[in-house]
Amino acid sequence: MSKTHEQRIQDELVFQAQEAAKDMAALRRTPDVLVKQYREAKNWRSNRVECLIRFLTLNKPTFICDFGCGSGEMATRLGRMGYKVEGYDVSPDVIKVARKRAELDGVSDKVSFVVADGASDSLPKGKFDAVLAMSVLHHLPLEEGLRTLNDLLVPGGRIAFQEPVAYSRLLQWLRDRTPVDKEVSPDERQLAWHEIVRIGEVFEIEQIRHYILFHRFWRLLPRSMDKIFDPWATKLDSLLLMIPGMKQFAGAVVILARKRE
Ligand SMILES: C[S@@+](CC[C@H](N)C(=O)[O-])C[C@H]1O[C@@H](n2cnc3c(N)ncnc32)[C@H](O)[C@@H]1O
Repeated sequence: MSKTHEQRIQDELVFQAQEAAKDMAALRRTPDVLVKQYREAKNWRSNRVECLIRFLTLNKPTFICDFGCGSGEMATRLGRMGYKVEGYDVSPDVIKVARKRAELDGVSDKVSFVVADGASDSLPKGKFDAVLAMSVLHHLPLEEGLRTLNDLLVPGGRIAFQEPVAYSRLLQWLRDRTPVDKEVSPDERQLAWHEIVRIGEVFEIEQIRHYILFHRFWRLLPRSMDKIFDPWATKLDSLLLMIPGMKQFAGAVVILARKRE
């Protein structure tokens, strides 16, 4: 029998409480070099977080919502870049870490956080001219998630998504059998192509870019080798993804879309 939304939330809260404890123990002020990297976003073609920030800030938003903000890394970085941000997350434990991070980064006046279930009808309406939805839609029932995201925006407001995808059944099968710690919460999934099409029915998609091909195999190597291989793997992937037909093997998508008027 499949779980109810309430059961999924309970499991998510247990998982996120463990993640929050790890994040709190490792919490440091965001290094200036990282803020500079994201402000410039020079490598947005190969680095999907830079792409997301570039897309999100293209139209110089005045008030950004970080939906499913987790421990507030992105919200705080955006705050350090000068943006006003409000983060929402269902887990009170990660929100505690996010508030502490904002304090450490000296942006508590610009960046605030609220505990809320993104699949409920409790979030504000028409409050933001930009919404960041980074790795969160795949945790939610799609229709409820899209409705909330649409409601948060003013008409014409921009939304930037980043989600894991599995368009190919073979890849999904391989992923389920790969013996690495995927650090994922119990009920998350990868989005299928028909769900991307659905995003395009609700929002007007302006740009879309895919990431991760060989990069997923680098996860089989020890973490200590990340620094050496990561830059090569991301660059190689961005070149290969230019080849027609390769997108169906991608592992992540970044989308810039607009709320329909
Ligand atoms: C993979 S994490 C992504 C966090 C952050 N956006 C990032 O990319 O670092 C997914 C986040 O979604 C949150 N989440 C899951 N279900 C949610 C819901 N129903 N409403 C709001 N947030 C939810 C989780 O608590 C978690 O912090």
